[in-house]
Amino acid sequence: MSHKRKKISVIGAGFVGSTCAHWAASKALGDVVLLDVNEGVAKGKALDLYEASPVEQFDSRVVGTNQYADIAESDVVIITAGLPRKPGMSRDDLLATNAKIMKEVCLGVKQHAPNAFVIVVSNPLDAMAFVAKQVLGFPRERVIGMAGVLDTARFRSFVAEAANVSVKDVHAFVLGGHGDTMVPMPRHCSIGGAPMTEVIDKGTIDKIVERTRNGGAEIVGLLKTGSAYYAPAASAVQMAEAILQDQKRVLPCAAYLQGEYGVKDLFIGVLCRLGGNGMEKVIELKLNDEERAGLDKSIHAVQDLVVALKKLEF
Ligand code: NAI
Ligand code: 2OP
Repeated sequence: MSHKRKKISVIGAGFVGSTCAHWAASKALGDVVLLDVNEGVAKGKALDLYEASPVEQFDSRVVGTNQYADIAESDVVIITAGLPRKPGMSRDDLLATNAKIMKEVCLGVKQHAPNAFVIVVSNPLDAMAFVAKQVLGFPRERVIGMAGVLDTARFRSFVAEAANVSVKDVHAFVLGGHGDTMVPMPRHCSIGGAPMTEVIDKGTIDKIVERTRNGGAEIVGLLKTGSAYYAPAASAVQMAEAILQDQKRVLPCAAYLQGEYGVKDLFIGVLCRLGGNGMEKVIELKLNDEERAGLDKSIHAVQDLVVALKKLEF
């Protein structure tokens, strides 16, 4: 069956997945399929969301399922299946369980949506994107991890609050892995085009950098039973939108590096151009010594995770 509308499939109908479906449908990006091992939850949330469409005035069919055949001909697949963090857990504690889930999901995606662009969200992000790439065997343009948009959104929110300016006027990015070693880049952050470092004092910037690094844990500590989902889902959907609408957005994403920054065959958060061909380009920047040292530390953390991953049977 040919599909004129774009089709977005979201795997995992938990907090992040159902919120992705919500943003994607409410922006009318296309029809939405919500897939979960828990069929009732997927179908119930999808039906509930579809029933909101006359009120919110969006023309998206939203269906829930536990069958991979239903994701056929998806343009974009967003993978959120997996366990979230509980208080005291690091993202890395999720490695073994989520690797098994990621493998199962990617086998379904490879069989039923072999031409899709895949956005990985499940944690630990950089390792799960690696599993997805291995299992899917898709080119790197079509397997992209979501972390940098979220980490940067946190950074931008805190900067906007500190400077008392609109979030729209704060531009920034965060590089590296999605973990405690991520590298916010204050030198490259601007407020209305002016360097942030000329608008906000160093002590405040240092606090913002630290708060950004702990942004995920801050929410886990408050929620106690799970992790963040509004900003993560908004971030994944922004990436999907950039691809579906060929927007050529410049966004920080986890990309499978092939020599950039001296790294090969690892997913690391870098600035990318996202458009109709997926992750179309890695924009490699000249870093100063401090930034390079921060990035190297983060790369080593991701390398350690992938070494641990390779020792697991899944
Ligand atoms: P959740 O527990 O609310 O939802 C996970 C869903 O996955 C559940 O509905 C569960 O039934 C489903 N699931 C489990 N195994 C499955 C399988 N084999 N096939 C299909 N579905 C399966 O968790 P939440 O809050 O939605 O988080 C999802 C993942 O996203 C977690 O790993 C979390 O750590 C990660 N995450 C990553 C972020 C990032 O920046 N990359 C940000 C926020 C969350
Ligand atoms: C976050 O950063 C838990 O990775 C998730 O909120």
